[in-house]
Amino acid sequence: MYLYPKWIRVWHLINAAMFLILIVTGISMQYTDKENASYVVGFAKAVKWHNFAAIVLVLNYIFFVTGNLLTKNGRYYRIGRKDFMSDLGKQFKYYSVGMFKGEKHPFPVTEERKFNPLQKLTYILAMYVAVPLLIISGIGLLLPEITIKTFFGVSGLILTDILHITMGFFLSIFMIIHIYTCTLGAKPTSLFWGMISGYHREE
Ligand code: HEM
Repeated sequence: MYLYPKWIRVWHLINAAMFLILIVTGISMQYTDKENASYVVGFAKAVKWHNFAAIVLVLNYIFFVTGNLLTKNGRYYRIGRKDFMSDLGKQFKYYSVGMFKGEKHPFPVTEERKFNPLQKLTYILAMYVAVPLLIISGIGLLLPEITIKTFFGVSGLILTDILHITMGFFLSIFMIIHIYTCTLGAKPTSLFWGMISGYHREE
């Protein structure tokens, strides 16, 4: 099944590469202080690379949203079924118990259903909630003059920073779990090959 068109593969490759740069440079900036001037990457270099990767990520994100609006790939991100919650439960049970007993996948991949319910929910939360919040708070930190000065007596910049690092943390955790769940295809490498070749294979 041809499920990953070229544009989604290009988007995903750029997105993953930019995320890795943002995580390394973000952690470097977070843990750099006067005594420890270069944690993994020197501070000045980390700022430069973080800003560069962020701009590429934003342009790439606009490409992702536009692509999903204009092509049929967008339909895989829609939650329509009434029994979505019970489907989520089934998938969760499969990942936590069924899979280890060799049970069959409750939601096999078809042309109509590229993602299982848990995948769909986490992709929606990551791409349409966490990434936009990460981007908005990042713009707030890049341009502090446009960020609100105080919010209920607390510095707007500190709140923006907390939102930014919280989203960065959640998305880093998402990425680790995402890579692990991508090993749960027919073979541990099947889903990775799918993202390279465009074709999903059940065997
Ligand atoms: C080195 C890091 C990464 C690897 C190895 C990786 C691997 C994969 C693989 C194998 C797939 C295809 C399986 C599937 O359809 O679920 C996939 C899809 C996807 N990944 Fe990743 N990923 C990485 C990073 C990320 C990051 C950082 C994000 C978002 C913040 C992300 C978001 C997505 C999304 C939304 C899809 C579905 C795309 C679509 O078909 O519409 N990935 N990834």
